[in-house]
Amino acid sequence: MSTLRMRRFLLLAACAMPLLAGAAAAQQPPGAPAYSPTVGQAGKDVVWVPTQQQLVDRMLDMAKVTAQDYVVDLGSGDGRTVITAAQRGARAHGIEFNPDMVALSRRNAEAAGLNGRASFAQADIFQSDFSDATVVTLFLLQTLNERLRPTLLAMKPGTRVVSNTFTMGDWNPDQSFDTGAACASFCRAYLWIIPAQVAGQWQIGEDRLVLEQRYQALTGTLTQGGQSLAISDAKMDGEAITFTAGGRRYTGRLEGGALTGQVEGGAAWRAVKAAG
Ligand SMILES: C[S@@+](CC[C@H](N)C(=O)[O-])C[C@H]1O[C@@H](n2cnc3c(N)ncnc32)[C@H](O)[C@@H]1O
Repeated sequence: MSTLRMRRFLLLAACAMPLLAGAAAAQQPPGAPAYSPTVGQAGKDVVWVPTQQQLVDRMLDMAKVTAQDYVVDLGSGDGRTVITAAQRGARAHGIEFNPDMVALSRRNAEAAGLNGRASFAQADIFQSDFSDATVVTLFLLQTLNERLRPTLLAMKPGTRVVSNTFTMGDWNPDQSFDTGAACASFCRAYLWIIPAQVAGQWQIGEDRLVLEQRYQALTGTLTQGGQSLAISDAKMDGEAITFTAGGRRYTGRLEGGALTGQVEGGAAWRAVKAAG
């Protein structure tokens, strides 16, 4: 970790400690062993700094978490993101390497009456299977996000990934949010929606659609009656596709291996994978 980043952690620690100590004390059941984490304390791959509650709420808003979701927080710290997701009715799970933090999270979840919906595992996120999550939350580092990126991209299209502050390198977010000037550090959240993979050649009746894909971004051509039209403003949003070709806006979805949808103000379209 760079000296600058460490200094930021310690500055945040100094600001957050009184609040944190109060919260931990309030959630400590009588007779339980006192464990009070320190902001900036060492973690396996990254230190512990809690996401501010305002940003936790916003991250779950961005991911549109509902009771139908299974939310997994990778490196779950004191459990606040898992607990907040469970309070929204979702099933939520935290993976945390530090056993003291796991025990603290379990006590916090129990104190919040959420034991049924909030669970925690003491494990390394890089050795864990979270492929059934519908929402993944992160507050790690860009390098760690990039290590997770292939695993995340292999998840079910439409899965939402939200990160506090740290990006995914050259995988641009679908959405970002900044808490504003009053927030001193760790104030941004980013959302990515796992895109369905549609790169290749598609046949739309007699027409041919050629798609190239980089993460959620699409480029390519639609060839109609021998005329090749570049597609623009094209992207995947989970299984939903949008693009413009020849001044017409196409919307559709990948369903059962075919792309089906509507041309704006006009006919339905259906594309199937072209042979060869
Ligand atoms: C910056 S804190 C974020 C905590 C929590 N997600 C939040 O937003 O409040 C990162 C957490 O990841 C944990 N951690 C670091 N490396 C890990 C690993 N390889 N596996 C599991 N947890 C890890 C640390 O112990 C720490 O609690």
